[in-house]
Parts: sequence; structure tokens; C-alpha cells
Amino acid sequence: MTAVGIDAVEIWTGKLSLDLPGTFAPQKGEDPEKYTKGLGLNASSFPDSYEDIVTMAANAAYRLMERKGLTPDDIGRIDVATESAFDNSKPVSTYVAGCLEQVYDGDFHHANKGERKFACIAGTQSLDDAYNWIKAGRNRGRAALVIATDTALYARGDAGEATQGAGAVAMLITEEPSLVELSTEQGYGSADETDFLKPNQQFPSVDGKRSVQVYLARMREALEDFESVAGASHPDQYAYIPFHTPFPGMVRKAGLLAYRHMIRDTAIEDDLADEIGRQPREEAFDDADAYHEAVREYMDALKGTETYQEWYAETIDPTLTISREVGNWYTGSVHVARISALKHGYENGLDLAGSKLLVGSYGSGAQAEGHAETVCEGWHEELEALDIDARLESRYDLTWEDYEEIHDVHNHDLDVDIDARTTPEDEFVFDGWGRMGERKYRFAE
Ligand code: CAA
Repeated sequence: MTAVGIDAVEIWTGKLSLDLPGTFAPQKGEDPEKYTKGLGLNASSFPDSYEDIVTMAANAAYRLMERKGLTPDDIGRIDVATESAFDNSKPVSTYVAGCLEQVYDGDFHHANKGERKFACIAGTQSLDDAYNWIKAGRNRGRAALVIATDTALYARGDAGEATQGAGAVAMLITEEPSLVELSTEQGYGSADETDFLKPNQQFPSVDGKRSVQVYLARMREALEDFESVAGASHPDQYAYIPFHTPFPGMVRKAGLLAYRHMIRDTAIEDDLADEIGRQPREEAFDDADAYHEAVREYMDALKGTETYQEWYAETIDPTLTISREVGNWYTGSVHVARISALKHGYENGLDLAGSKLLVGSYGSGAQAEGHAETVCEGWHEELEALDIDARLESRYDLTWEDYEEIHDVHNHDLDVDIDARTTPEDEFVFDGWGRMGERKYRFAE
């Protein structure tokens, strides 16, 4: 059977950065440690005035195509996942193709293009679509370009303002991939929820505390469904577990929940029993409240054990490094977590080829998905080619006044014009409006 998966990735971060403990927290009258320790965030990425979901997507895709030596003829499918779309009809992928056609001789006229929406999980769904398309033999030897792009902005004053971010992840899906191979080991947890939504509005309506609970509930269902396909999971089975990361503190909760689930009825639970007891079993309780209280106590104790902390430090914490510096990229976020994990493996000289990842995606509204991936032989060269740290470090550091202006520039209800904070170079930029209300783009040399 031909292996199908992610051959290569590129990310494009919004070119501005907001220091959360240093600049944001003091303005909000909050303790900086709420950000660094509580939410687990140091900074958020923001788009400069000439950037948007199209420029970030096109720039990530362009870098990817250049690095892999591709031309438009090599691409049979372009899918964009976003929850920041500005058009209910024309998909972002057409704009992206239009941008790329400005710099390549060929065109994408024979590539199937689309746009996927299901909050943050749409990026993973687009990966699935590409995988299925290739597995079905409909790709005619061509690759799929999947791009997750978002400007995760919240209304000023909303609690979510602390977890903003902006960026794009472009992924090349091929046969015989270099980075990770996808598989049929996959499970879902999905329910009609109103935790986070944008009913034809730019900024989300969010029930923040509830959204955290819904994330965990759906993720747990997805893990159970995943295990019905892949068999019981064991914590030592996976080199890393990248989760959707709206902020690292969310993943701290998801990691603990997953660990409790995975060690049940294993030697790890037995070994920990002397220290913290065995896990409460629902059937041993007459009263649901008493059971839930006992679970909470067990989780608190589990979190403090050396066994759990070591596992977390090796398997979960490395997935959060980039997220801490960029905030939430919605559809791109779980794919940033995968890159972050592999980057950790690369920087620490680990031999990851053949190792497995368990990837936990989530989209509000709500659906979680868990799937297994296997790291491929070529992963090391792919990671070597990325320059993520340099890109993050080159961002312009916003003052509070800059931040207020930039937020207004990207607010669709306002008409604000400001000077860009950075100078574009070898990249696509927003270039004003066309006569039918379309956005126009050009390549800035
Ligand atoms: N030192 C250390 N920790 C501190 C602290 C301090 N001084 N002050 C606060 N904290 C901790 C809190 O204890 C809390 O941690 P726990 O949840 O582990 O207790 C954490 O920092 C956050 O503090 P608050 O809960 O007080 O923060 P908040 O009221 O500002 O709201 C939020 C947090 C609900 C996540 C809000 O930022 C929000 O609404 N975000 C947008 C929604 C979101 O991201 N939801 C996530 C799930 S939905 C999803 O994943 C989809 C998506 O991408 C949006």
C-alpha cells in the first residue's frame, strides 16, 4: 500500500508581535503570570496592515513550493481551511491561486479548489480530504496543497483577547511523504454545541469557560472512538501528542485527561497506587457528584506525581513551544503543535523515524478528532529546512498604541488607514479593493 501523508510544511507568522506579560497585562491591570503561567503564553502574532488570511496563506504556500521546487502543474488540489473568511461564496483558495499565478509561469486551472469550515478542526479535515483523494487514486500523480490560515482576533475587551494570534500553515500532501504518514486510525467526538461561534460576524461570541469544558468532553469522546479502531492507547506508545492549542494552558488540561485515560488498568496505574491510590471507578459510586469529586482529587494528585510530570515534559510540553510565542492560529494551531514537537526532536538529536504521534484536533461547535501518524525517514531534512525561530524573532514588537491601531485596521466595521510597521519583501501583500468588492493582491519584490 502506498504511504500517503504530509511531505513538507511551511509556516507564515503575522509579522507583528504583542508581548502579553510585558505590554498587554499591565494595560489590563492583570498579573503577568496569568499569561506566562496560567494561559502559558508569552506573545501573540498579529498581521501587519498589508497582511490578511490570503497573504499569509499565499506566502506560506509560495515558500513551500519554492523550497520543494514545485510548479503549478504539480498541484492537483488547493484546499484552504479558515474561520476568518471574508466571502460567503468565493473561496480563499482562488485568491491564493491568483497570487501564486503572479509569480509562476503556469497556472492552477486544473486544480480542484475549495474552502473548509468547521472552526479550528477544518485544517485537519482538509488533510483528510487530501488523503482520501490521493488514496482513491484521483490525484493523477499530483500533490494536494492544504493551507490553514486565520486571523484569530476577538473584540476588544473580550476575555478571548488574551489568546489572539495570526498565521498560516501550508502543508504538501503526497504519496511517499517525507514528514509524517497518515493512517486509517482515527476517531471522532462530535456534538451540536454553542461554545464559540461567529453568526455572520467577524469577532466570535464565546462562552470561554464552557468552551474549555466542551473541548475536553469532545476530546475524550474522540479518544474513545479512536481506540475502537486503533486499540487501547498507552502513554509510552507516542513520541508526542500534539493537541489543538488555543493556549498552552488548555493543553495542560487535555494532557492530564488523556494520561488518566491511557494509564487506566495498566502497570502505571498500579505503580502509582501506593502514592495516590487507584483511579475512582464510576460503578463504585452511588452518587455522580461524589464520583466526580473523587476524580478531581485523583487528577490533582496525578498531576503532582513525578511519573506524570516526566511524561508531560517529554510528550506534551515540546508541542507548545511555538504556540507560546504566537497565540492561537485556529485552523493552523494543531499543525503548529506538530511542527513544534518535531522541531524539539530535531534540536535534541532524537531518532524519530518510525515513531508515532497521536494528533488531537478540535473545532468549536463542536468536534474533536484523534488520529495516529508515523514519522517518516525524511523528517530530519524537512525540519532542517525550516527557519521558524528567525521568523518569530524578526517580528515587530507592538507598543500598546500600535496594538490598538492594528486591531482597528483589521476590524471590518472600521475604516482605518495607518502606516505599516514593517516593510514587505519577496511576499504577497494586500493591494486594495476591486470594483466588485474583491480584494486585490500583488507581489512586493
Ligand atoms: N498566576 C498563575 N496562574 C494564573 C494567574 C496568576 N497570577 N492568574 C490566573 N491564572 C490562571 C487561572 O487559574 C487559569 O488557569 P486554570 O484554568 O488552570 O485554573 C488561567 O490562568 C486563565 O485564567 P482565567 O480563567 O481567570 O482567565 P480568563 O477569565 O481571562 O479566561 C479563557 C480564560 C476562558 C480561556 C479566555 O481567554 C477565553 O475566552 N479564550 C477564548 C476561548 C478559548 O480559547 N477557549 C478554548 C477552548 S475552545 C477552542 O479551543 C477553540 C478555539 O480555538 C477558540
